[in-house]
Amino acid sequence: MCGIVAYLGQKTARPILIEGLKRLEYRGYDSAGVALMSRRCVRVFKTAGRISALEESLPAEDGGEVVGVGHTRWATHGKPNQINAHPHLDGSGKIVVVHNGIIENYATLKTWLSGKGCSFVSETDTEVIAVLIGYFYNNPDGSSPAPVDLESRFEWAVQQALHELVGTYGLAILCTDLPNVLIGAKKGSPLILGVGENEYIVASDASAIVEHTTQAIYLSDGEMVTIMPEGFRTKTIGNKLITKEVQEIEFSLDQIELAGYSHYMQKEIAEQPTALSTCLGGRVDLQNARVVLGGLSKYFRELARTRRVILTGCGTAWHAALVGEFLFEQLARIPTEVEYASEFRYRNPILEDGTIVVAISQSGETADTLAAIEQAKERGATVLGLVNVVGSTIARTTDAGVYLRVGPEIGVASTKAFTAQVAVLAMMAIELGRRRHLSSDAAAELLDELMQIPNKIGLILKQSDHIRQIAQQNMDHENWLFLGRGFNYPVALEGALKLKEISYIHAEGLPAAEMKHGPIALITNQMPAVFIATQCSQYEKIIGNIEEVRARGGKTIVVATEGDAHIRNYADHLIYVPAAPEPLQPMLTVLPLQLLAYHAAVLRGHDVDKPRNLAKSVTVE
Ligand code: G6P
Repeated sequence: MCGIVAYLGQKTARPILIEGLKRLEYRGYDSAGVALMSRRCVRVFKTAGRISALEESLPAEDGGEVVGVGHTRWATHGKPNQINAHPHLDGSGKIVVVHNGIIENYATLKTWLSGKGCSFVSETDTEVIAVLIGYFYNNPDGSSPAPVDLESRFEWAVQQALHELVGTYGLAILCTDLPNVLIGAKKGSPLILGVGENEYIVASDASAIVEHTTQAIYLSDGEMVTIMPEGFRTKTIGNKLITKEVQEIEFSLDQIELAGYSHYMQKEIAEQPTALSTCLGGRVDLQNARVVLGGLSKYFRELARTRRVILTGCGTAWHAALVGEFLFEQLARIPTEVEYASEFRYRNPILEDGTIVVAISQSGETADTLAAIEQAKERGATVLGLVNVVGSTIARTTDAGVYLRVGPEIGVASTKAFTAQVAVLAMMAIELGRRRHLSSDAAAELLDELMQIPNKIGLILKQSDHIRQIAQQNMDHENWLFLGRGFNYPVALEGALKLKEISYIHAEGLPAAEMKHGPIALITNQMPAVFIATQCSQYEKIIGNIEEVRARGGKTIVVATEGDAHIRNYADHLIYVPAAPEPLQPMLTVLPLQLLAYHAAVLRGHDVDKPRNLAKSVTVE
C-alpha cells in the first residue's frame, strides 16, 4: 500500500529509483513520482497512472543526480491524479517527502498550519507532513529553539513534526539546503535501509534493495535514520542515538524476477511444488510421526493445553485460517474460532485466560492484522504468527511464529502463500493432535500424505491448458458461484475471491448446503457453478447439491478426485485432482481455482499482477 524508495550514493539515482519503484509497484499503482536532488535544485516529476507512465514522462536526458526519492501510490486521501502524487513539498519548496501510511490528524494539522499562513496544493495527508517539517525547519515566527546548524535543524524539524502526527508512516525526506542528506522514519509502515558500499537505499521492502545490496537494517516503529555520504546514524524520534543490527536480506534477485513467465501470479502458482517442499523441509519427522517447528517449540505445550485458539487474518489469509479451524478442531480437538482481523480489533473481544491467538499474514504488514495482534496482546493473550516476509512487522510483533518460507510473493492475488499457510496449519494441527489424542499411526499417515502434496500439486499444474479451455468457454459469464463443503468450503471462498480480484467477474463462495437458502434463486444457464466434489465424508451430499443446480439449467465446473468416473454424469466441465486425505485436500483443490481465475483474467485482457483498485500489502485500515 504505497511503496517508497530513496537513494543516496555515488551512482545516478534516477534509474535506481525507477527500478526500485517497479519492484514496489505491487504495493500500489495509482500514480507515481520521483524527486531528484542536485546541489543546485530539486527536480520533481509526477504522473497519474503506473511507473511506466512516469518513466515515459521523464526528460530524455538524465541530470545525473545521485540523491533522490520515489513513490508509487495507492490512493487514500485525494484522487490518484498528478497533484496528489508524491513527492510532496512544503510551501518553501525546501522539504521533499514521500510517505506510506495514513496521517489521521492531518485535517487538524492542516487547519493549524493554514492559520500560520501555510498553503497547500493537494488533497493528501502527506503534504501536511512536508509543510509541518517545513514550518519547524524555516521557523517563520522564530518561536522554536531550532538548532542553527542546518543538518541538526533538519533532523530536529523532522522530529518535531513527527511528534505531532497521529497515524502511520514510512517516510523518506530531503531538504534542498542539504543536498547530501536523506532522512528516513518509520511508525506502523515498513521501512528498510539497504547499506551498500558508499550507497544507501531506503525502501518499503527489500525487493527494491536486493539488486544493490543484501545488507539491511530493519527500522522499528519510532525510529529514524539520517544518511549522509560518509555514513548514517540511527535514532529514536525522541533523539536518542541507537545501534541497529545490519542483517542479511534472505532472498536473491532471481527470486523476484519473472524468469520467463508472463506474470508473477503465473510464476507463483507454478512455484507451489518447490515452495511447499521448502515450507515442509526439515519440519516433518516421519519416523517419529512428529513435527518440528523451531519457532513454536516453546509454545507447543501451552498450545496443546489451551482452551481456545483464535485464528485471525485478512483476505486469503483469513481463508487459510478457516481451513485451520477445521484442522485444529478435527485433528487436535482444540476449540478454534476464526476472526476477520478488521472485526476482531473493534469488537472488544473476550479473551479468557489461556486463549492463544494465531495471526496469519503473507506480508506481515497488514494494518488490520497488526491491530488485532496489539488488541490481543493488550488483553494478555499469547500471540503467534504465521508470516512469509522475514523481519516484517507482524513477525517482530508476535511472541513467536513460523515462517512460510515460500520466497517473495509479488502477484497481488495470493497463491503460494495460501497453500503454505494451510501446510503450516496442518503441521501444527498434527503435532497438537499427537500431544493430545491422535495416534502415532494416524499422525504418521497424515504426515506421509502431507509430504506428497508438492508432487501432487505438480500433477495438477499439468492440466493448465485444460483449465484454460474451461475458462475460455465460461469467461463471458459475469456471475459465478463457488461451492464446497467441510474442508473445501474455505477453498470455495478462496476460488471466488481469486476470480473476483483479477478477472473482475462477480463471484460468490458458499458452503454448498447454503445454496438452497437463497443463492439458488440466481441459478440460470448463464451462471457457472464451480463445485469442489472430491472424495470426502460429504461426497454424496455435494452430489445432491450439483443435481439441484443442474435441475435448474445451471452449468457445472466440477473439481473431483482422480479415478471418480461417476462424477462425469454431473459435470459440464471436469477437473481432476489426485486423491488425498480430506484435511489435506485444500492444498490441492485450490490449484484448479487459482488457474481458472488466472486464465479467465488473462483471456479477458486484465493486468493479472496489478488488479484495479487493489494493492498487495494493505497497510491502512
Ligand atoms: C490484500 C491482498 C490479499 C491478501 C490480504 C492479506 O488484500 O490483496 O491477497 O490475502 O491483503 O494480506 P496478508 O499479507 O496479511 O496475507
